[in-house]
Amino acid sequence: MNKIKSIFNKKYNLLWPVLLMAVLVYGCTTNKKNNNKIINTFPGWAIGPFKRINSANPILTPDKKIKFMDPIRKADVLWEGKHTFNPAAVVRNDTIFLLYRAEDFIGKYKGTSRIGLAWSTNGITFNRLDHPVLYPDNDPQKKYEWEGGTEDPRVVQDSSGIFYMTYTAYDGTTARLCEATSKNLHEWTKHGPVFAKAYHGKYINLWSKSGAIVTKKEGDRMVAKKINGKYWMYWGDSDIYLATSKNLTDWKPVQNSNGKLMPVLKPRKNHFDSGLVESGPPAMITPKGILLIYNSMNAPDSGDVHIPVGTYSAGQALFSKANPKQLLKRMKTDFFHPEKSYEIKGQVNNVTFLEGLAPFKKKWYLYYGAADSTVCVAIYNPKS
Ligand SMILES: *[C@@H]1O[C@H](CO)[C@@H](O)[C@H](O)[C@H]1NC(C)=O
Ligand SMILES: *[C@@H]1O[C@H](CO)[C@@H](O)[C@H](O)[C@H]1NC(C)=O
Ligand SMILES: *[C@@H]1O[C@H](CO)[C@@H](O)[C@H](O)[C@H]1NC(C)=O
Repeated sequence: MNKIKSIFNKKYNLLWPVLLMAVLVYGCTTNKKNNNKIINTFPGWAIGPFKRINSANPILTPDKKIKFMDPIRKADVLWEGKHTFNPAAVVRNDTIFLLYRAEDFIGKYKGTSRIGLAWSTNGITFNRLDHPVLYPDNDPQKKYEWEGGTEDPRVVQDSSGIFYMTYTAYDGTTARLCEATSKNLHEWTKHGPVFAKAYHGKYINLWSKSGAIVTKKEGDRMVAKKINGKYWMYWGDSDIYLATSKNLTDWKPVQNSNGKLMPVLKPRKNHFDSGLVESGPPAMITPKGILLIYNSMNAPDSGDVHIPVGTYSAGQALFSKANPKQLLKRMKTDFFHPEKSYEIKGQVNNVTFLEGLAPFKKKWYLYYGAADSTVCVAIYNPKS
C-alpha cells in the first residue's frame, strides 16, 4: 500500500488526471444510476443484449382447434387449447425447431401439459405438428407424468447427433426431472427420472426441475461436452445444483462432504433473484468459463423493491471450466425481464422464462415463455 502510494506521489504525479478520467469513464459505462436503480451494461463474459422481436411476439400461441386422442383418457383433447409456453430450441441445418409446452384445460388440474414440435426457417414464423411429441401415456413413466403432464423441455445433442431432452414430469404432487432421447426430434424414447439410480434411489422422490446440460457451440449445434471425464448439468428451481453423468441419461447429483445436495448458485437478498434461482437454457462453455443463463423470482420480503414481487426475470452466471462447481461471476442486475403486455399479463403475470437459446444464421435466438401463456423470441446480433 505505502509503496504504491509513494510511487504515485513522487514519480508519477502526471498519471493522476489520467487515472481519474479512467475511473470516471469506467464508472459511467458500467453503472448508470437511474432513480437509484442500478443498470449495469453487459459484462464481457456474458451473452447479449437480446432484443425482442416485438412486431412478431408472441410467435406461438395456442391453436384452440387441434385435437389429439389422449391414450390415457381415451378421448380427444384440445391438447394446446389453454397455453403454449416454455420452449427448447434446436437448429438442424437451415431450420430451427422448438419443443414447447402445451396445456389443455381439463382434468384434475384443469391443464395437463404435453410437449409439441414447431419449426421455422427464419426463427420467427413457425409451423407446427398437429400432435404432441412427448406426452403422458400408458407406459412405465405414467406414474410420474399423470396427470400434471410433461413440462419445460431443454434439448442438447451429443457429438453423434442424438438429441437429449430434459423435462419435468409432474404427477400433481412431485415434479421430477426426466429425460428422453431422439434421433429426429419427433420420435422420443423416455428414460424416466434422471436421478432414479443415483445413490441407490436416494433422490427418486426429490422435487427436481430444469436440467441445463453443459454444451459447446459447434457451428449451429449445441453439443454436450465432458469436463474432467464427465458430463455436467445445472439443475434446480430454488437453489441451483449440479449433477454429473457418464452417458447423458443417468445423472448423479453432486453432494457435499456430509452427503447433502451442494448448491452452486443461491438467491441473493435485495436483488431480482432474491426468491429463487432456476436453470435456463442449456449451459455453454465459452472462452471465459461455463455460461449459465438462469431464471429467477423476486421475493416478497427480501427482494429488489424496484421490481414487482413475484416477477420472473433472468440473469447470467459464469462458472469455472476447470471446476463447474466454482462460481466466478454473476450479473448484478437482470438482463431480461417482463416489459411488454404479453409478459405482464397471462396465466402467471410478470413472467419471462428463458429456456431455448440457439445459434442461427450468425445470431443468437432466445426463446422464452411469456406470462406462462405464449412463446416469444428475442435476438442477439453479435455484429451490431
Ligand atoms: C443437413 O444437410 C446435409 C447436407 O446438406 C445432410 O447430409 C444432413 O443429413 C442434413 N442434416 C439433417 C439433420 O437434416
Ligand atoms: C447409463 O449409465 C448407467 C450407469 O451409470 C446405466 O445404469 C444406464 O443403463 C446407462 N443408460 C443408458 C441409456 O445407456
Ligand atoms: C406486474 O408488473 C407491473 C409493472 O410492470 C405491475 O404494475 C403489476 O402490478 C405487476 N403484477 C403483479 C401481479 O404483480
